[in-house]
Amino acid sequence: MKLFIDSADIEEIKEAYSYGIIDGITTNPSLIKKAVDKYGKIKIKDYIKKILKIAKNTPVSLEVLSANYKAMVQEANTLYKAFNPVAKNVVIKIPVDPSFGHNDNHFDGVKAIRTLARKKVPVNATLIFTPEQALLAAKAGARYVSPFLGRFDDFIRAMYKMKFKKEDYFPMHGHKAGWNYNGVYSGVDLVAQIVQILENYDTEVLAASIRNVRQLRECALVKADVATVPFKVIKEMVVHKKTEEGMINFTKDIVVEYAEMLRRKR
Ligand code: E4P
Repeated sequence: MKLFIDSADIEEIKEAYSYGIIDGITTNPSLIKKAVDKYGKIKIKDYIKKILKIAKNTPVSLEVLSANYKAMVQEANTLYKAFNPVAKNVVIKIPVDPSFGHNDNHFDGVKAIRTLARKKVPVNATLIFTPEQALLAAKAGARYVSPFLGRFDDFIRAMYKMKFKKEDYFPMHGHKAGWNYNGVYSGVDLVAQIVQILENYDTEVLAASIRNVRQLRECALVKADVATVPFKVIKEMVVHKKTEEGMINFTKDIVVEYAEMLRRKR
């Protein structure tokens, strides 16, 4: 499974890429706002170019802001023209259904994906909450589909009036009482169903909205192609109390001759 960083914070991105295990970046308008809030006045165009250069040969998702077919395609073209020449790694993020629930333009996202895919612009279909949305996006030619698994868990828990914190783990097989939304039992189950449905498509399943390492592991277990995670989760991946304790004990046990032999080799 590929590992993307879900961030627009350049310091976090730089640090994560220095580990040598990051395969791409996802951003969204909220993450860009977070970066602007942190770094103050930034020249957004230069800032994005810097991020693209850090990512080099790995894909970076940039999201459109509009919510209708024409404007989304226009914005996608603007973003792609302005930024893809920098490092040839731009992916355009398009919401699968931009209708806000009250406009009659539910299919504008799918149509925009189709138009962009025909022009060979890679698309990440975002805000996916059902296997059917993922299927539509894949049929339209999306390069990636992004099921938001953490937010799906929020949705299930809220539906059944459960109290929870955003980072709380929710079981991949769902609540023991059988809670589900139209046959989907958890965010990870949503990812698993999409993986199965898209088996014969070129579209990659990009598990998003991951809040903890256990969800990340479960995405790998259900064979998601990609998981995008906040920097905080990447850092948690490497830590275990017993690893730290082992380091302390091994360090205490170092034999002088063994240490000297290694120092001489430096
Ligand atoms: C992915 O592309 C999204 O930017 C992200 O994963 C959303 O995560 P959140 O639900 O924790 O905000």
